[in-house]
Amino acid sequence: MRIYLSRPDITEKEIEAVCAVLRTPNLSLGPKVHEFEQVFANYIGRKRAVAVNSGTSGLFLCMLAMGIGPGDEVITTPFTFIATSNTIMMTGAKPLFVDIEPVSMNIDTSKIERKISKKTKAIMPVEVFGNPAGFDKICQIADKHKITIIEDSCEALGSALNGKKAGTFGKMSTFAFYPNKQMTTGEGGMILTNDDELADMCVSLRSQGRGKGGDWLAHVRLGYNFRLSDINCALGIVQLSRIDEIKAKRRQVAKWYQEMLSDDDRLIVPTESHGCDISWFVFVVRLAERFTHRQRDQILQEMNAKDIQVSNYFPPVHLQPFMAKRFGYKEGDFPVTESVCKSTIALPFYNNLTKDKVAIVCGTLKEILDKTGPVI
Ligand SMILES: Cc1ncc(COP(=O)(O)O)c(C=O)c1O
Repeated sequence: MRIYLSRPDITEKEIEAVCAVLRTPNLSLGPKVHEFEQVFANYIGRKRAVAVNSGTSGLFLCMLAMGIGPGDEVITTPFTFIATSNTIMMTGAKPLFVDIEPVSMNIDTSKIERKISKKTKAIMPVEVFGNPAGFDKICQIADKHKITIIEDSCEALGSALNGKKAGTFGKMSTFAFYPNKQMTTGEGGMILTNDDELADMCVSLRSQGRGKGGDWLAHVRLGYNFRLSDINCALGIVQLSRIDEIKAKRRQVAKWYQEMLSDDDRLIVPTESHGCDISWFVFVVRLAERFTHRQRDQILQEMNAKDIQVSNYFPPVHLQPFMAKRFGYKEGDFPVTESVCKSTIALPFYNNLTKDKVAIVCGTLKEILDKTGPVI
């Protein structure tokens, strides 16, 4: 019996909602897009939401709408999914990395200011694995230097810091709905902002650069087809209506892992720091420092061989070959990130993961650790 890293949680309600759209002629550009945007904007507490076909498209459009391009720099973290920095590069701007803080694994706020220059057009922080720790400090720094925050909230739907929701820290923010996320639309993303002009620009850019209320074949700027279909949006509306239930289920799974693993000194187990309400995206444990990178990789291999799907979230972004080649980044540039990346094990994590399966995962991991032994 394979235990998967992630599984979507689709009920009859979602299936009915999708089928209902299929019985209409409005498979795209129909009423479900607007409805999804409305309920999403209400849930996050922003004036406008713009649905797009992925988190990647959303982040890219945020930057285009703000006029970020060649010659500009955007400060971000090297400990994230590749799309964060890829979208910066897609605009022609340079991702300028700042190392992470080792507990939350978010960008280290004490290291941001020294990277700010005339070229800095924005900061793109990420709530890594759903953790909003440090976002209040990021806002203070951005305010002080009058720099815009574009928030990559792709992993943090439902998280909050001191009652302030993820997705409300930036002038613009983006969520993602790939099936491993808290909620899914199959593929999809959502841009959030309180700024009508920026939202209207994203609406135009996502649909071939059409003007507001303009003719279907009149194009006022270079645009894309980043639209999200009504089929996806119908799925998203039902998933979002279940977000409290989804958050609670994931919190329960995280709690089981914490109970079963926290007393093992070979592991660093994630917890919520003061003021943080984490909407758990994934559950990533880390090996204690005495374990080597090779041992971590071997443990991943053995877990997978035992039909427990685990992963190395994330390898350092700055050391991805194309990144290192383009910008000259090398080993040692971001030592905290590099050391964290060598120790992570993302465990199976999804809404309907049972306590019995969590126990199997933890038991198997401990058995493999017993066998791995100390480094000589
Ligand atoms: C931090 C982060 N940014 C961006 C994305 C991109 O989202 P998508 O896969 O929908 O393009 C993801 C998705 O996994 C992510 O985790």
